[in-house]
Order: sequence, then structure tokens, then C-alpha cells
Amino acid sequence: MTRIPLIAGNWKMFKTGPEAVDTATHLAQACADVQNKDIMIAPTYVCLPLVATAIADTSLHLGAQNLHFEKQGAFTGEISADMLAAAGVEYVIIGHSERRQYFFETDETVNKKILAAVSNRLKPILCIGETLAQREAGNTFLTLDKQVADGLKSVDPERLQDLVIAYEPVWAIGTGETAGPEQVETVHRFLRTLVDTKISSDLARTVRIIYGGSVKPDNIATLMCIEDVDGVLVGGASLDARIFTQIVKYD
Ligand code: G3P
Repeated sequence: MTRIPLIAGNWKMFKTGPEAVDTATHLAQACADVQNKDIMIAPTYVCLPLVATAIADTSLHLGAQNLHFEKQGAFTGEISADMLAAAGVEYVIIGHSERRQYFFETDETVNKKILAAVSNRLKPILCIGETLAQREAGNTFLTLDKQVADGLKSVDPERLQDLVIAYEPVWAIGTGETAGPEQVETVHRFLRTLVDTKISSDLARTVRIIYGGSVKPDNIATLMCIEDVDGVLVGGASLDARIFTQIVKYD
């Protein structure tokens, strides 16, 4: 089963509208010759319509960094799945560790958001990852198992054909400390086996399992050589079009 690599940029809370359009435009131009890879950028909500217009006729894909699981209602500051779909969004990052840490995201709300995403034809990127304390306590696999099982609970596997799982060890995010190849290989193999045994063998073949946590131009090639690594989710290094292009063009 050939899975198209996904090289995704999570811009977090950076860039004004004009800055986002400028970066997206330069990235689209620099990556116009890239084939057989999905390149995605996830700006802030306010930049989505502007970036959608800027990349409309390019090969770039648009993502959002979060969503609310309700269709609409009195939820000040929130955005629903169908609003994102109507804005041209294709992918949505769900359960990022920063949302779990700072905004009380739980596996239960992640599950509701996964359901809302697939119900609106958005491609969910389920973020999972252990903290340093969980790793040091030997609870990495227990943590990841729970995050996947609870995050995907009661979702029909038939509706997960576009699922992406992003393994982002929390202690590697924004620290410059990337997980070693052996660890990445072990965890990604564990995750694919987990999906195969607990959810669906078909899904295990199609789900893209990507790595996030201090991905840079000098480590992308090593990461992409690892079996069961189907791409990356990049934070800081995706904010500069030139640097992100180096990551995209790793091979
Ligand atoms: O979602 C990806 C992000 O959390 C990784 O951040 O800056 O370590 O690439 P960074």
C-alpha cells in the first residue's frame, strides 16, 4: 500500500493575514514542481479565507488548527466543522498537545471533534503524544493506546479513510530535541499495529502516521526513511517558506 507523504505546517498563533498570504504564495511558487506529496499549511482562523484564495490554483492544501464539535450555537470564539469546510479547509488538526495542555482538550472532546470532522468531509489529523513524565514512567504505549482508542471511539472505520495520526512526543515540541529514529520507528510500528488489531486492517493500510516535534531540514530525510513514517507535522520550521521548502524537498 503506497501512502502519499503528508508534509504539514502548523503555523500556530503566528502571522497576520498579509504575512500569511506572503508566506503561502512564496511556498506555493517554491513547491510548484513537487509531485507525489501532499503539502498542507494550517494558518490561524482569521487567515483561512485569505490563504484559501492565495493557494486556490496551486498544489497546496489548506488546514485548520482546531474546530468545535457542535454545528452552531452560543459558543463564543469557536468555529464549526462546516464553517471550516465552507472556507475551503481540507484538513483539521485535532487534539494538539497545546490544546490539551492549555485549553482542557480531552480524549472525549477529541472524539467529538473527529466525528464532526468526518461528518463534514474534513480530513482529521489526530494528534497524540506522551509527556516526558509519562515516558520516564514507562507509560508511553499506555498513553498512546488510550489517546487513539478514546479519540476514535465509536467512529465507523469506513468514515476514517482520510485519517491521519500525528505522533508528537510532547517533550520534542518546540524544544529542538527530536525523537531518535529508533524511538520513532518503534512508536509508529506500535501505532499501525494498534490500528490493525483494535480498529481495522484496511485502515491500518491507509492511515498516514506522521511525526511531529522539532522537524528541521537537517533531520527530515532521516525521519522519512523510517518505515511507518508517512510524513511530518512541522511547527516552527514551517513559518519560513524557504526553510519549509527544504523540508518538503527532502528527497
Ligand atoms: O504541530 C506540530 C508542532 O507541535 C511541532 O512544533 O516547532 O517542534 O516543529 P515544532
